[in-house]
Amino acid sequence: MNILILGGGGREHALAWAVMQNPKCDRLIVAPGNAGIAAIADCAALDILDGAAVAVFAADNAIDLVIVGPEAPLAAGVADRVLAAGIACFGPSAAAARLEASKAFTKEICDAANIPTAAWARFTDAAAARAHVTAQGAPIVVKADGLAAGKGVVVAMTIAEAHAAIDDMLDGAFGSAGAEVVIEEFMSGEEASFFVLSDGTDVLAIGTAQDHKRIGEGDTGPNTGGMGAYSPAPVLSPEIEARAMAEIIRPTIAEMARRGTPYQGVLYAGLMIENGAPRLVEYNVRFGDPEAQVLMMRLGAQVLDLIQACAEGRLAEARVSWADDHALTVVLAAQGYPGAHAKGEPIGGLAALPETSQQMVFHAGTAETEGRIVSNGGRVLGVTARGATLREAQTRAYAMVDGIDWPGGVHRRDIGWRALD
Ligand code: AMP
Ligand code: GLY
Repeated sequence: MNILILGGGGREHALAWAVMQNPKCDRLIVAPGNAGIAAIADCAALDILDGAAVAVFAADNAIDLVIVGPEAPLAAGVADRVLAAGIACFGPSAAAARLEASKAFTKEICDAANIPTAAWARFTDAAAARAHVTAQGAPIVVKADGLAAGKGVVVAMTIAEAHAAIDDMLDGAFGSAGAEVVIEEFMSGEEASFFVLSDGTDVLAIGTAQDHKRIGEGDTGPNTGGMGAYSPAPVLSPEIEARAMAEIIRPTIAEMARRGTPYQGVLYAGLMIENGAPRLVEYNVRFGDPEAQVLMMRLGAQVLDLIQACAEGRLAEARVSWADDHALTVVLAAQGYPGAHAKGEPIGGLAALPETSQQMVFHAGTAETEGRIVSNGGRVLGVTARGATLREAQTRAYAMVDGIDWPGGVHRRDIGWRALD
C-alpha cells in the first residue's frame, strides 16, 4: 500500500521508520519530512493544514492511507477532507479533535461521563476569573481553552501569578485560543502518558510512557515540548492501567460516539496518579513527541497493522504483540531552546552510529545542506535505544549521545530518573 504521513518532527520520523519496516508498505511519502526522514522515504512540500490540498495530493499519488502526525491538521479538519475524498485516514475528525483543541470541551465530556479529573470552571471575563481564583486560593491552574503549542497552561503557585496568567490570556497572548480560560484545581501526584487506539467503538491499549517537560535536569527551568521519554512507565501499573481504561478512556470513547462524533485515531491521555488512582490531566489527539519515538521503537512494524485496523474500523480483531523491554529517548536541542536559538549548525558523528532495531537517531529539526546534516529547529534529534532494562536502554542512549559531535547542542543527562531512582 501507498502511505502518506503528515508532519516533519521526531514523532513522524519514528512513525515513518516503523511503517517502512512493514512489508505491506510499498511507497511512503512524508510531508514535509526532515533530513532523517528523507533518508528512508520520499519527502514532499505540502501545506498540511490545507485539507483540500492534502486530499488532492493523496489522490494524485494513489495514496491508500494517510497518517496524520500533529494536532493542528486534525483540528483544521484535514482528516474529514481526506475521508471525503474516499481515502482512509488515521486520525480524528475536527469534531473529535476538540478533545485536544478545546480544554473546556474535554471538561464537558468528563462531566457528562463522570470521568475523574480536576474540578474546573470556564471564563471569558477577566474580573470573574480573577474573583474565582481569589476564592479558590493557590496553587491553581490557568489554561487557555484552545491550541497554544503547549504554552497555554500556567500552574500558578500564587494568586498573583494566576491573576497575571488570566490577564495575559484574555488580553490575547494566545490569540483566539485564549479567548476563554479554564481554571482548574491543582492536582498533585505523578504524571504519565497512556496511549490507546480507537476506531470509534473499540479500544486497544498500545503503551505507556513518561516525558520530561522541563529543559533542565531535575525537572527545572522552562517547559518544552519534551526533552526525553521512556516506555513503559512503571507508575502506570497494570491495575492503574485497567482503572484508566474503565474509568477514563472507555467512558470518553462511548460519550464521543453517543454525541455522533466518534473518535478514531490514537488517543493520548495525560494522567495524574495519586494513591493508586488515575485522574485525567488532558487529552491529545495524536502521538506524543518524544513519546512516539520510544513507543515506535518498541512496537516496530506492527504499528502499521494496528493503524490500518484502527482506520478501517477493525480494531476488535487487532492484537498488540508486546516486547518485554524498555526504550528511552534523549532529545538533543539547540542551545537557547525553548527560547531563541541558532539554526544551520553542522552535526557530526551521526554516520558512525549504527541504526538498528535496538538503536535509532530520530531526526526532528534537521536539514541537509551540501551533504551535511545541520540543525534546523529547537528540538533537533531524538537519540533512542532499547534494552532489557530501563538502565540498559539509558546507558545505550547516552553512549550514542556521546558519539554525536554538536557543540551547540544541549540535552539532559537524567532522562529516566523517576523510574530509576
Ligand atoms: P496540559 O497541556 O493540560 O497537559 O498541561 C501541561 C502540564 O501542566 C501538564 O502536563 C501538567 O504537568 C500541568 N497541569 C495541567 N493541569 C494540571 C492540574 N490540574 N494540576 C496539576 N498540574 C497540571
Ligand atoms: N511530549 C508531550 C507532547 O507531545 O504533548
